[in-house]
Amino acid sequence: MSSTIKRILKKGLNLPLHLLKRYKTQSALTRLSSHKNRKLQAIAAALQESLAHNLSSQEQQSISLIEERRSFLLNSDKEIAKVDYGAGSSNSNRMGEQMNSGVRSTASISQITAVSKPQFWATVLFKLVRKLEPVSCVELGSCVGISASYQASALKINGKGAIVTLEGSDEIANLAKETFVSLGIENASVVTGPFHKTLGGVLETSKPIDFFFNDGHHDHDAVLKYFNQAMPYLSDAAVIVFDDISWSPGMRKAWNEIENDERVAASIDLGSIGMALVDKSMNTKERFMIPL
Ligand SMILES: C[S@@+](CC[C@H](N)C(=O)[O-])C[C@H]1O[C@@H](n2cnc3c(N)ncnc32)[C@H](O)[C@@H]1O
Repeated sequence: MSSTIKRILKKGLNLPLHLLKRYKTQSALTRLSSHKNRKLQAIAAALQESLAHNLSSQEQQSISLIEERRSFLLNSDKEIAKVDYGAGSSNSNRMGEQMNSGVRSTASISQITAVSKPQFWATVLFKLVRKLEPVSCVELGSCVGISASYQASALKINGKGAIVTLEGSDEIANLAKETFVSLGIENASVVTGPFHKTLGGVLETSKPIDFFFNDGHHDHDAVLKYFNQAMPYLSDAAVIVFDDISWSPGMRKAWNEIENDERVAASIDLGSIGMALVDKSMNTKERFMIPL
């Protein structure tokens, strides 16, 4: 078969698959937006506005400034030393001891910045914060402060709330602090050190936590450990966002266990990101698959 015919066939098959995915997304979003729970309605609105690029001029202005800072960092080939308490790459198979004591290396600022949430997903976070209007937010995994800046800017526009973000590596945490200073962000603070040493104190000072973004340690046991640790410090109706739930088989397994956890009233699987609503007033258990 000629390559032209193959290409035409592939294109012909891709279109119905694409339309089917769009139909599934739209019908799941409609189901979510007509739910009687206000937090689920707010999540639906955040997803719909992100997909439609529906931004006010104030929102657009904040996002443009953060994206300028991202571009600046992505253009820096300066090498810095760092220590990684995370899982490394999806096939690193790091041992618990290595993750506890951290792995030292050097990398360029550009390479470090490249793992930040891309603009679309950072906008989803921004819109979630705009619609859910949390007061206390915690983030695991600051990196250079891009996703935290999105959340902090949304809180600022809301007129209330603050975010504490945790980062293991001193050198990377300094870049996050510089990001906040350069953007005039005053409602975000960075706590430096491995999560197993810092999270306990942050949970105490941030409780009750309304919005928790887990984007740090991409390891099955670590995700569940920090999920369980955070649970007693959440507000009565809190949202936890888990990044990279499809990053490795271990991360998928952790997400499946979270979805099945009896304390999770509703879960929303976006493919690469998962959201769990922990709402003590809901006695149902619901799942939404919204392939984005
Ligand atoms: C994927 S990056 C975070 C990206 C950031 N949320 C963004 O989108 O702008 C994960 C960060 O978490 C940090 N990290 C991973 N595991 C950690 C741990 N166990 N303790 C402290 N920091 C950790 C890494 O150093 C890295 O900077």
